[in-house]
Amino acid sequence: MADSSALPPLLSISGANKSYSGVPVLIDAALDLHAGEVHALMGENGAGKSTLIKLMAGVVSPDSIRITMRGQPVTIHHSQAAFDLGLRFIHQELNIVPQLSVAENIFLNRPYPTHAGLFVNWGKLNQQARRVLDQLGVDHIDTRQLMARLSPGDQMLVSIVRAFVNDETQQASIYVMDEPTASLSGQETAMLFRMIESLKKRGCAILYVSHRMDEVFKIADRITVMRDGQVVETQPIEAVNPADIIRMMTGRALQQIYPPRETPHGGRILLEARGLQTKGVKDVTFELLEGQILGIAGLNGSGRTEVLRALMGADRVIDGEIVLDGLAVRGLSPTSAWQHGLAYVPEERRSQGLILSRSVGNNITLPQLRHLSHAGMLLNHGAEYQTSRKLGDSVRLKSKSPAQTVRQLSGGNQQKVIFARALARPPRVMLLDEPTRGVDIGAKADIYALIRQISAAGTGIIMVSSDLPELLGLSDRILIMRGGYLVDQVSAEGLTEESLLTLCYNAEKL
Ligand SMILES: Nc1ncnc2c1ncn2[C@@H]1O[C@H](COP(=O)(O)OP(=O)(O)OP(=O)(O)O)[C@@H](O)[C@H]1O
Ligand SMILES: [Mg+2]
Repeated sequence: MADSSALPPLLSISGANKSYSGVPVLIDAALDLHAGEVHALMGENGAGKSTLIKLMAGVVSPDSIRITMRGQPVTIHHSQAAFDLGLRFIHQELNIVPQLSVAENIFLNRPYPTHAGLFVNWGKLNQQARRVLDQLGVDHIDTRQLMARLSPGDQMLVSIVRAFVNDETQQASIYVMDEPTASLSGQETAMLFRMIESLKKRGCAILYVSHRMDEVFKIADRITVMRDGQVVETQPIEAVNPADIIRMMTGRALQQIYPPRETPHGGRILLEARGLQTKGVKDVTFELLEGQILGIAGLNGSGRTEVLRALMGADRVIDGEIVLDGLAVRGLSPTSAWQHGLAYVPEERRSQGLILSRSVGNNITLPQLRHLSHAGMLLNHGAEYQTSRKLGDSVRLKSKSPAQTVRQLSGGNQQKVIFARALARPPRVMLLDEPTRGVDIGAKADIYALIRQISAAGTGIIMVSSDLPELLGLSDRILIMRGGYLVDQVSAEGLTEESLLTLCYNAEKL
């Protein structure tokens, strides 16, 4: 941990205020960053973490703020100013240009190497990008590949790498990372942590936003907790435990995150996959019983998401069949799957599931708009408003009203909108892909309670998750995927995180 007594903080923020249309989202927030420290920033969805970061980055203008660097007052009116002061950002929303290559994205907003100052030297640009990627251990990404072609995890890796590009004129001293690991695999996260360690050794300060307790306890030296736009406390990490943090974040104690199963699930088969094959999975066979929760585990790229996509009709079924309530269903599409009672919460919620420019109400009631319209013509706005308010409340959605546009919600709250939508009409089968990614711990507990409640009413649930405690805490059985094959099926009872991880890795070596 850094010795903070002698020197003024590397960066100090105080009196940060910001309101949107008269609603304060930051109230007199203050934060110090010392050289050589990893400073965790935690808080529920909508607490104001990203807003504070955007003020530091000069991309949102504050109502008021005081910033000093090494004791000297500075102003950050635009993003170039932040860059020149040595601040680097990995924002929560990927700001990549999908139509450009990986190399172009890495050097975006910086001078590209040229031939005699005239034409871009593409060879050199790619070489430089390759060097940066390799230095950081990212050797599987082709620098000429279009950004749009990369998986969300790889896109995040490129955004991370971009923040680490060294500039000859200006050495960065502060790195701000807003939920960088949300779409990273375990190995990629480990790599990021090694990078963070070496930055610390160089005397940089790292501000690290995460909803994952285990990460925070692993890498942070100090922690600041925000609630409702205010800073609640800053503490050395040794001085707090997870329960303290949850209390600071939510103002309530959370007894139990994973609600236990209270009634045994039914024995009737609800859904069967028989020798299912799509472009992403091969010969997948399993059964889902009424009221059962089936977890799907596996490493990144093992075909977990593809199982859900196959069931949902998002990928064409090449072979095998899906049997729902004893009847084979063919040629499902995402729309007809919904009509068959299958609800899907996709992994990349913000890009795949939401219409950002529409209201919360619209987004929640989207798949059932027809029920809410009179004779398929006029939308009954009153009904939409009521339904979405009720559903929003059930996932503790923090929005001003169902009329607020989704774009204005915090990241985690955007994700809750899709969850609320899946609850709109209790489905027969619910397919969840990383259901609580980016969701704060209080809301996670709420969502887990909902999942239990829905399954107790008979809905079968299939859940893909990289969060092992979540898989173990909720699932009855766990399917293990590898290379598109279903390689193992185990009961979750008595299974530990370690043994589950071993199953996933062993599966990889088979
Ligand atoms: N452009 C905007 N217009 C109106 N309100 C906004 C805007 N941007 C953010 N907000 C509101 O400010 C509050 C704080 O949002 P912020 O994104 O900072 O939360 P966060 O702590 O980063 O949450 P998460 O953990 O979900 O990412 C939220 O209530 C959000 O709805
Ligand atoms: Mg945020």
